[in-house]
Amino acid sequence: MKVSVIGSGYVGLVTGTCLAESGNHVLCMDIDESKIDMLNRGSVPIYEPGLEELIKRNTAHGRLSFTTDMSAAVRNADIIFIAVGTPPGEDGSADLKYVLGAAKEIGTHLNGYKVVVNKSTVPVGTGDKVRAAVASRAKHKFDVVSNPEFLKEGAAIDDFMKPDRVVLGAESPRAIEIMQELYAPFVLKNDRILIMDIRSAEMTKYASNAMLATKISFINEMANICGSLGADIDAVRRGMGFDKRIGFEFLFPGVGYGGSCFPKDVKALVQTAKEHRVDAAVLKAVEAVNERQKKVLLTMILEHFRTKTGRRRTAAAKPLSGRTIAMWGLSFKPRTDDMREAPSVVLINGLLRAGAEVRAHDPVAMGEAYKIFRDRIFLAGDDYEALKGADALALVTEWNEFRRPDFSLMKKLMKSPVIFDGRNIYNREELRKLGFIYYGIGRN
Ligand SMILES: NC(=O)c1ccc[n+]([C@@H]2O[C@H](COP(=O)([O-])OP(=O)(O)OC[C@H]3O[C@@H](n4cnc5c(N)ncnc54)[C@H](O)[C@@H]3O)[C@@H](O)[C@H]2O)c1
Repeated sequence: MKVSVIGSGYVGLVTGTCLAESGNHVLCMDIDESKIDMLNRGSVPIYEPGLEELIKRNTAHGRLSFTTDMSAAVRNADIIFIAVGTPPGEDGSADLKYVLGAAKEIGTHLNGYKVVVNKSTVPVGTGDKVRAAVASRAKHKFDVVSNPEFLKEGAAIDDFMKPDRVVLGAESPRAIEIMQELYAPFVLKNDRILIMDIRSAEMTKYASNAMLATKISFINEMANICGSLGADIDAVRRGMGFDKRIGFEFLFPGVGYGGSCFPKDVKALVQTAKEHRVDAAVLKAVEAVNERQKKVLLTMILEHFRTKTGRRRTAAAKPLSGRTIAMWGLSFKPRTDDMREAPSVVLINGLLRAGAEVRAHDPVAMGEAYKIFRDRIFLAGDDYEALKGADALALVTEWNEFRRPDFSLMKKLMKSPVIFDGRNIYNREELRKLGFIYYGIGRN
């Protein structure tokens, strides 16, 4: 089949590449010329494991190409995906200007029947708006389908190739048949294609992200309660997880959720509910707990240096002036370079405001970190370099390579052996035996 994808970011690029891998001819389009230039030169603008190799293979076979030309993208395709961004507007609602702008352009260039598939995460009712935007310019028939994306950054290729489910919101039997054919190679083992009305498909995406965000805020709240009661969240988490109705998935305490999806999708759903006079009380609490959680490590660090060191300060001195804090992990989660809404950004800003110097390292997000902080923090070439002369280490993202470090080398490099473990990846007793002062989330 001939497919075009409008918007070649995390979702568009993965969608286009995986559809090319299953034999379709795919044209990925973006308005960002530098992104398309990079892709045409054979480099990949984002870090996503396995993506570069797939792009190389499919471009070499002539099944995948890149363009900034919207007309070519529309004219040459039977199926057109919209995968542009839907950032939050001022009131938290999803800003649809990119989606509807793309829809109008699709209408302008329509040269025959096509299926217009919305893959961006959009509020319920957007399907109607997309249909109206395309129709305002179109001289040919078309159908609109909602096909929300559930991939996880860091495991995006696998998620797309072996989806838990494919949700299709559609009314037209013709469009449904085309979409089922397109997705058939990805659901060979079992039929995981769920066909529903467009509104329900749009809502399924928000409800899923809202549930995942709720699990994170819930376990973080439990961790905070454990921390102040002298209970250990890790024991509690295990004790809960064996109950099949609860399970172990996605119940890890930490420094709050970030990324380009959960924060904006929870906000957007709260706003949609409000517009329809529903008070989304649970979701508002989920968001409030998360905002608080992003500050938990900073609070611990300030408290440690206030109480444990007994150092006297003048009233004017900032609480962490003269302190150096090393930081491991900057991306909002492992296996991605994405720093959108990352808890690390909140922590770094707090540390800088408190007068600390920050020495940070991340396996892949250093370029993104430089765009945000420039020379306001020291970006260390490797994890051990970040520790040199540090008064403490804050572990923020649980990259695998941070899990079993050389603790004796760490002790030698640091000015004082203090670890704030924002993901509970270290063995507290072991570290204490080695002479570290250890702080975790919801552990004493
Ligand atoms: N990133 C994820 O993990 C993820 C997962 C599921 C769903 N989503 C949703 O998918 C959508 C895209 O997210 P993303 O992370 O890929 O965003 P992104 O910011 O990485 O990419 C969006 C791309 O769209 C391009 N664009 C904007 N307007 C355009 C236009 N008129 N024509 C062509 N290109 C245009 C931008 O230049 C950008 O490259 C969002 O709605 C998001 O909520 C994201």
